[in-house]
Amino acid sequence: MTPAEFSPLISAALAKLDYGQSPTELYEPIRYIMGLGGKRIRPLLTLLGAHLFTDDLGPAIKPALATEVFHNFTLLHDDIMDQAPLRRGQPTVHEKWNANVAILSGDVMLVRAYELFFDLSPALLPTVLRRFSQTAAEVCEGQQWDMNFEKDAEVSIPRYLDMIRLKTAVLLGFCLELGARVAGASEEDAEHLRQFGTDIGLAFQLRDDLLDVYGDAATFGKRVGGDIVSDKKTFLLLTAQAQASPSQQLILRQHIGQPVPDAEAKVQAVRAIYDELHIRPQTEALINGYFQDALQHLERVAALPARKEPLRQLALQLMERES
Ligand code: IPE
Ligand code: IPE
Ligand code: MG
Ligand code: MG
Ligand code: MG
Repeated sequence: MTPAEFSPLISAALAKLDYGQSPTELYEPIRYIMGLGGKRIRPLLTLLGAHLFTDDLGPAIKPALATEVFHNFTLLHDDIMDQAPLRRGQPTVHEKWNANVAILSGDVMLVRAYELFFDLSPALLPTVLRRFSQTAAEVCEGQQWDMNFEKDAEVSIPRYLDMIRLKTAVLLGFCLELGARVAGASEEDAEHLRQFGTDIGLAFQLRDDLLDVYGDAATFGKRVGGDIVSDKKTFLLLTAQAQASPSQQLILRQHIGQPVPDAEAKVQAVRAIYDELHIRPQTEALINGYFQDALQHLERVAALPARKEPLRQLALQLMERES
């Protein structure tokens, strides 16, 4: 099977979700953000994780949706924090409504995400809720490091990697672990899948950081150059800072951590230095390294190779994605 064959299961189940009706200012933004689509990779990872061990995907569906609703909640708050104007090619919720609406709609999405776990068996529920709560707290920790780093001139690459592990990768790891647990996998297999997902997640966020600089706005659906404008300490910037010549250092210092009179000029200047230093292929090499690490964990899962194929394909698609 291909990953795409699992997608209709997710869209059909999402279409049936009722987040609530009144007041409309609370629930309409949820229908808006969920209706804008997105890749739906988190629920897909949960279903593919379950499918390694079972043909009965029914019990995995609602938990899979929980991961997507949770992810979309983080996007509403992330877009306020990042002052992002665009999401999935459309105005962000805080732009279309306002920040208060995006905060509160996000809050209730987190609650709805929890509710989507309630049908799990009594044997699974405590473990899943404990792991989900731990993951959700780690995402917050990663988000706070991300914000702290905007103002911090001393961020190292290991600290950056730990930040993206928390804000992005642990959730992808959890999605796979969740699928495995719901399908009755062993602890060992659930753990290998969690690590597979975490490595894919690190590569996924590195790819996101790359697309933020080099993506096509129409396909990417977000403002290109946003990370440069807000002084995000990405792998691209940290590598450029470490490898820049004295004259390039000077240009970087004129732009990073300085007030932005002309955002477009800042993006162009920093991107030109990335080009000169070949930051793009260096980032791609790191992405590929995490992809290879991820595959090693998938290898060690006790399931038939044919069952692993959709996961391998999805991981590969994510490494090469443009959106
Ligand atoms: C965006 O996630 C946030 C990151 C972790 C980079 P996705 O790239 O999965 O966004 P959608 O859901 O497909 O829009
Ligand atoms: C997002 O990282 C991580 C979370 C939403 C938790 P980014 O800030 O890079 O995500 P995008 O680029 O806005 O989607
Ligand atoms: Mg953001
Ligand atoms: Mg962010
Ligand atoms: Mg980003």
